[in-house]
Amino acid sequence: MKGGDMTYSTKDIPAEGLSACWKSPSNIALIKYWGKLGGQLPANASLSITLSNAYTVTRVAASRLDTPGSGPEAEFRFEGELNLPFSSRINTFLKSVASHFQYLPDVKLSIESGNSFPHSAGIASSASGMSALALCLCALEAQFQGKEAGAPGFYEKASSIARLGSGSACRSVYGGITVWGRHHDVPGSSDEYAVPLHFDPHPLFSGLRDAILIVDPGEKKVSSSVGHGLMNGHPFAESRFAQAGKNLSGLLAALKSGDWQVFARIVENEALSLHAMMLASDPWFILMHPNSLLIINKIEEFRKQTEAKVCFTLDAGPNIHLLFPEEETERVATLIKSLKSYCFNDKVIEDLVGEGPKQLTCR
Ligand code: DP6
Repeated sequence: MKGGDMTYSTKDIPAEGLSACWKSPSNIALIKYWGKLGGQLPANASLSITLSNAYTVTRVAASRLDTPGSGPEAEFRFEGELNLPFSSRINTFLKSVASHFQYLPDVKLSIESGNSFPHSAGIASSASGMSALALCLCALEAQFQGKEAGAPGFYEKASSIARLGSGSACRSVYGGITVWGRHHDVPGSSDEYAVPLHFDPHPLFSGLRDAILIVDPGEKKVSSSVGHGLMNGHPFAESRFAQAGKNLSGLLAALKSGDWQVFARIVENEALSLHAMMLASDPWFILMHPNSLLIINKIEEFRKQTEAKVCFTLDAGPNIHLLFPEEETERVATLIKSLKSYCFNDKVIEDLVGEGPKQLTCR
């Protein structure tokens, strides 16, 4: 792992402690990560757009333990409330990354976190939550080292730490479009951390919109770790990983040239292939809701009638992400209106591609 290899002492932590605060967004994958190797490494490269309105704000305060070396110890508050299940997940995560931060065994952490989106909105919070936490841990390390957050190696390390918490989180440490996983078409790409797209996408994609149609806001039917696990020994695993690699090459070309038709075809193929993997796994899982299918059919109908630039993707769940360029906002608004009745409580969350995480002043 790069960065953070300078030694320092935690003896000089000021009496009031040290703190770091970051706002980090969620992301939506266009090329899906589904299947992993040991060490939280991906079976194929994935590509996502970092969102703007769906984000987590996390503040981490560190103070020196009475018995340095016995930590890390952490207390976790989510939206002001002490949250024991989350605390236990965070403590396990902190122990797993303790060897990457010289200061961690010596400190007690007080972590406070909150999301811009409601807990049961059907938006995965692990990408924004884990990336915000990883950025705070790296920012604290930078303070110990007397460096600026954002110095060379900072985001790479934050991304690889986020990855250890949740794979997709590693893509949220940059704005715009990011790639995680080694791929021959992406210079500098790595299985350990994500990298920002190495070229400016065609202007068609610069203000890409994502309207999230909340079909079901409930808990996921399959946890990500179980889902990834089902790719081990899956009869179609190898062809799926090869397909993802080919789709990534095709998508990169479309992003460069501004070819919406190719972009849409690949994005939808990825989403449906992800669901196809779950349909064909043992045990099988149907992760869509009947309304997800109705919505997909309506999108296709609308596209045939209007030739509008609009397409869909899904995560491992029933909600539909409607993707369209800024120039289509008005036309797609009528489509969204007509789809609301298929959503839970008519719920649609409007988002768009964002600039990535921001460091905040701690209060
Ligand atoms: C379908 O990142 O949630 O959203 O690494 O086990 O935390 P873990 O999995 P996670 O998997 C995300 C899967 C996906 C596709 C994607 O985001 O690439």
